[in-house]
Amino acid sequence: MQNKIVAIASDHAGFSLKQSLIEYLHDSGYIPIDLGTNSEESVDYPVYALEMAQVIESREAELGILICGTGIGISIAANRNICVRAALCRDDEDADMARKHNDANVVALAGRRVTPSQAKSIVSVFLNTDFEGGRHARRVEQIS
Ligand code: RB5
Repeated sequence: MQNKIVAIASDHAGFSLKQSLIEYLHDSGYIPIDLGTNSEESVDYPVYALEMAQVIESREAELGILICGTGIGISIAANRNICVRAALCRDDEDADMARKHNDANVVALAGRRVTPSQAKSIVSVFLNTDFEGGRHARRVEQIS
């Protein structure tokens, strides 16, 4: 990955994991843009999905990380935006395929289902895997 800027956002259920991943991103040489939330006080995940979409659309960040309790709501909300291809990834293989075949630009994680260690591994694969293009590019183009 050329661009080391990575946007990251969560709702309250993903806050703790977000903080772990921000530390991990710093330690790994990335520049995280933290879009919130900033505590475990209950918030609405669509707000943070939209924040992410705006950052991706403006090209402030090329790739992003979204976290809610299951990863489901925040990925559904993010995918309402044409510039976002958010993939809910439960393991490294999901992250690998999401980049190689789907050119996903946002990885969605389940704050209540993956451990920080699993999440770091998923994020590492996601950030270090390139889109394969070819026949997959044709399919991705059909989405937009
Ligand atoms: C919040 O309790 C929870 O519903 C939210 O984090 C997410 O899992 C929704 O999809």
